[in-house]
Amino acid sequence: MFDINKARADTPGADNRIHFNNAGAGLMPTCVVDALKTHIDLEAAIGGYEAADQTTEQQQRAYVAAAEMVNCKANQIAIVENATVAWCHAFYGIAETFKPGDRILTAMAEYGSNYISYLQIAKRKGIVIDAVPNDESGQLSLDALENMIDDRVKLITITHVPTNGGLVNPAVGIGKIARAAGIPYLLDACQSVGQMPVDVEEIGCDMLTVTGRKYLRGPRGTGFLYMGPAMLDRFEPLTLDNHSATWTATDAYEIKPDALRFENWENYIAGKIGLAAALDYALAWGVDNTHARLMGLATSFRAQLSARKGVVVRDIGAETCGIVTFTVDGIEPAQIKQEMASRAINVTHSTRFSSRLDMEDRDLDGVVRASVHYYNTEGEIDQFMIALDEIISKN
Ligand SMILES: Cc1ncc(COP(=O)(O)O)c(C=O)c1O
Repeated sequence: MFDINKARADTPGADNRIHFNNAGAGLMPTCVVDALKTHIDLEAAIGGYEAADQTTEQQQRAYVAAAEMVNCKANQIAIVENATVAWCHAFYGIAETFKPGDRILTAMAEYGSNYISYLQIAKRKGIVIDAVPNDESGQLSLDALENMIDDRVKLITITHVPTNGGLVNPAVGIGKIARAAGIPYLLDACQSVGQMPVDVEEIGCDMLTVTGRKYLRGPRGTGFLYMGPAMLDRFEPLTLDNHSATWTATDAYEIKPDALRFENWENYIAGKIGLAAALDYALAWGVDNTHARLMGLATSFRAQLSARKGVVVRDIGAETCGIVTFTVDGIEPAQIKQEMASRAINVTHSTRFSSRLDMEDRDLDGVVRASVHYYNTEGEIDQFMIALDEIISKN
């Protein structure tokens, strides 16, 4: 039995609003808020450097817990400001090795920011970006991916769960193809880690990027990068400093031997400690358990939405997740978001900018995105449906 009373008692924000924007930022549990506040109070009381010296164990816990979360070693984790920074270290780092005519393979549901980076590197380096088509279910087609592999492919770079829908791309199948071909594989797991079990060994990815604030329920301004062993010799970090490297002689330096080479010296210590608390909290629930619960909620949510006239559920793929997206005939997604907000219900809306290839392919300008977590309830979904009926009837 899932202890929903404990989940909600640990989540002060759950009393204030119906929070269906967990893919934006999950509500922090009390233990995370306390960890953040305690460290900030300590910094104010004794000084920032001194507070850092006193909390090395809690900081180190963030690496160990992140490693446990994605099944790797603690020294394969770099803790950075957000998923974008993590991803840019990986992508722009490996992009330094690209030559004109090299190809990168990506997914139709690729995250907008990532795609902008591909376009920039295509312009700078003359590489070719190829998006792997979807199969009939709407997920990346593994057959198509296999057929697109050739000697020129230098990176497979995929968004696991897109920003604009409930699709889960077949990360493990992609990993098998990448490994067989010996092609580096970068997985943007920003929306999946914390929501569902994610195991870098099982997936076979070389690099994986995560944010703290979404399904992990950690503080904003935190994220991490998993850097697999094969990548450390393949490319250097784009930038170095006194933390990622050591100045060993007037004309020499040594780069850190592990993933810490992708960090820099100054960082958000309270955030790191808060992230450790969030990871420990998620691990204590067990991601298998919380995933099963949120999947039950999402399935029931989609069923109720589908039963409403004029509402179309937009989630595609053979496997879906807790991100529920839909459109309503004649009402803009932005308006639904606004009207829900006026009823203390948090949702968001995704536009073409968020994932242009996918949105154009499906001829969508926008969708409402209601993303559930395990601390949400069926009762909240019922209230949401009442609110939606009201909005539809008055428009
Ligand atoms: C798929 C995906 N990747 C990356 C990011 C960026 O994450 P962050 O804001 O932590 O940099 C997002 C944020 O929405 C996202 O949806």
